[in-house]
Amino acid sequence: MPELEAQIRRATTADAEALASISAALFPLGCPANTKPEDLAEYIRQELTAERFRALLEDDRNVVLAVSISNRLAGYALISRGSAPPHLQVPAELELRKFYIDAAYHGRGVADALMEKVLATVANEREGTLWLSVFSGNERAISFYKKWGFRIAGTQDFLVGADCQQDYLMQRAPSANTKEIHQCK
Ligand SMILES: CC(C)(COP(=O)(O)OP(=O)(O)OC[C@H]1O[C@@H](n2cnc3c(N)ncnc32)[C@H](O)[C@@H]1OP(=O)(O)O)[C@@H](O)C(=O)NCCC(=O)NCCS
Repeated sequence: MPELEAQIRRATTADAEALASISAALFPLGCPANTKPEDLAEYIRQELTAERFRALLEDDRNVVLAVSISNRLAGYALISRGSAPPHLQVPAELELRKFYIDAAYHGRGVADALMEKVLATVANEREGTLWLSVFSGNERAISFYKKWGFRIAGTQDFLVGADCQQDYLMQRAPSANTKEIHQCK
């Protein structure tokens, strides 16, 4: 496989349409294979619109890193400052809220390059630890996050349309207690 030239930059509001489009295409990859199309469609219609991305990008609590390969958007990461799940006791309130790479580039180092950039972006924060939520059956993503120092620290529900999915909470700080959070039942 030839080495890929991935460009990673901070997205702006001008990227909102393209981010909505790629996120709608890639979101199902992180969900259980049997998620109903109507549940996926509902989540995408509510959460992954250009308006949502524009609002995220206008809010300085969020950073979107966009990956381009041959001038085409090939993935993105969204880092958000906000409340961490209450029981997790994460010292910093930085969430890696989205992390998606086009399937054509899985296993080719693009996700590694994006994660390096994510960690560099949060390195200047007072407490540069991150937390995230990932479908508990998404073994590839879980392996990837473990490779980058994240550890499972609890579970929480994640609502996709009407489908309540079980997620793992992962964080890079190793000291958190394991907790369970059920919020959509
Ligand atoms: C998650 C994602 C960003 C990881 O990028 P990637 O390029 O696939 O990751 P890598 O290949 O570098 O790492 C995946 C690791 O899991 C391993 N792996 C691959 N398939 C696996 C499987 N079915 N079960 C367990 N581990 C698996 C790989 O061997 C690799 O480990 P290694 O580098 O030590 O060999 C990418 O797969 C993706 O975008 N997936 C779809 C969207 C998604 O699920 N995002 C996360 C939402 S929270």
